Amino acid sequence: MTENAKPTLVFGSDHAGLELKRALVAHAEGRGFSVTDVGTDSTASCDYPDFAHSVADAILKSRVHILGVLVCGTGIGMSISANRHAGIRAAVVSDTFSARMTRMHNDANVLCLGARVVGGGLALDILDSFLDASFEGGRHALRVAKIER
Ligand code: RB5
Repeated sequence: MTENAKPTLVFGSDHAGLELKRALVAHAEGRGFSVTDVGTDSTASCDYPDFAHSVADAILKSRVHILGVLVCGTGIGMSISANRHAGIRAAVVSDTFSARMTRMHNDANVLCLGARVVGGGLALDILDSFLDASFEGGRHALRVAKIER
């Protein structure tokens, strides 16, 4: 898997995260990222685990570097669901420092955002911080390996 190439991004949301997800997708495309959206594409009430599992599956099946972005009301349900998959490290983040650090130290491969928690402007900055950071490896690689046991 090539880690240095610009990653493909796979987005998912429930109804509560739909509007913010659309803004994040437009922002990522504007930055030149290749983007896939697994849904939802409707404001009708739906179940966040369905989309968390779709994003996790896409990451785990891919042979190229993919990062996920999941948006629900709080980001919490998405992260709990995505983290049930071995190999997925999903972080709920509400600030740019944590977004950067979770890539650098935890090698997080899914960013979870709460559309009812962060404003649209901050969410775009959080996404940028996540995408612009890289895993540092070294001692952090040993710790990340211990997560999976
Ligand atoms: C939907 O109302 C809400 O429960 C969901 O978006 C999410 O916040 C769950 O964690």
